[in-house]
Amino acid sequence: MNSLKNFVLILGTCFLVPTYCMVVQPFAAERNRQTVPYVMEDPGSGKAFDAPESKGLSYPQAFAGDRKRGEEIYAQQGCAQCHTQVIRPDYAGIDQFKKGWGKGGGDANAVTRQTNMWDYMHEDFAMIGQRRIGPDLANAGYRFDGSTTETEPAKVKAAKLSALNNFYLYLYAPRARREWSISPGYRSLFITRIKEGVGSELALKLPNNLAPAEGLEIVPSSDARALADYVLGLKRDQPIPVSITGAKPKESK
Ligand code: HEC
Repeated sequence: MNSLKNFVLILGTCFLVPTYCMVVQPFAAERNRQTVPYVMEDPGSGKAFDAPESKGLSYPQAFAGDRKRGEEIYAQQGCAQCHTQVIRPDYAGIDQFKKGWGKGGGDANAVTRQTNMWDYMHEDFAMIGQRRIGPDLANAGYRFDGSTTETEPAKVKAAKLSALNNFYLYLYAPRARREWSISPGYRSLFITRIKEGVGSELALKLPNNLAPAEGLEIVPSSDARALADYVLGLKRDQPIPVSITGAKPKESK
């Protein structure tokens, strides 16, 4: 009789634990997510209003700038072979806590939520990635956004530029940035040209052994710039359009 009791208990636990981890816990996490209404600006006054035809609807932001083309270059160059863009729920992995993966490096305000299907809404083909050889890029934008505590416009601009240069340096010569890097370089995305005047602000700052000859500079091609628009724009923090419980969007103020 005793062994039957144990059998029932163990069998029960075998069902209860997975049900909790894979059904109850994710539901509890998703249930609390709030949708945010789609608010438009009135062209006349610039005041926010909820257009009657889109009342109660909400929608993630579209890709800005050259990001759409950047996404194609990301696919063409095979970045997704080594980089994922998925943050697993916390019961399924440690992504959200792992430095530089789910979380934006050092930025305390960076969102660390797990990714959901709406994060890929504007992508024709979601770049969820194949293997994690390099770090996850779901929130790469936070790691290269050049945020600084400075308020002076010149210094803010310099910080942004330095973050961008850092990204180009990674693309051109990963080992110039981190000497242990196992990432391939993408030199075909750069152009060597004659330097005019002080040269471009986007020109690579390379160590001596890689620097171009005197009077030349290496600048990112338009493909590399589009790729930067895409990767540096990766911030999976937009509000989600619908709640799984059907809760109404929050009232806009
Ligand atoms: C062969 C695998 C591989 C491929 C392909 C690859 N990477 Fe990487 N990537 C890595 C590795 C490994 C690192 C970590 C080491 C480093 O930072 O150099 C990395 C780092 C990065 C980082 C820096 C992340 C951080 O937080 O510092 C970015 C951004 C990045 N890769 C973007 C790209 C883009 C864009 C492409 C496509 C053009 C690409 N990678 C292709 C392996 C790869």
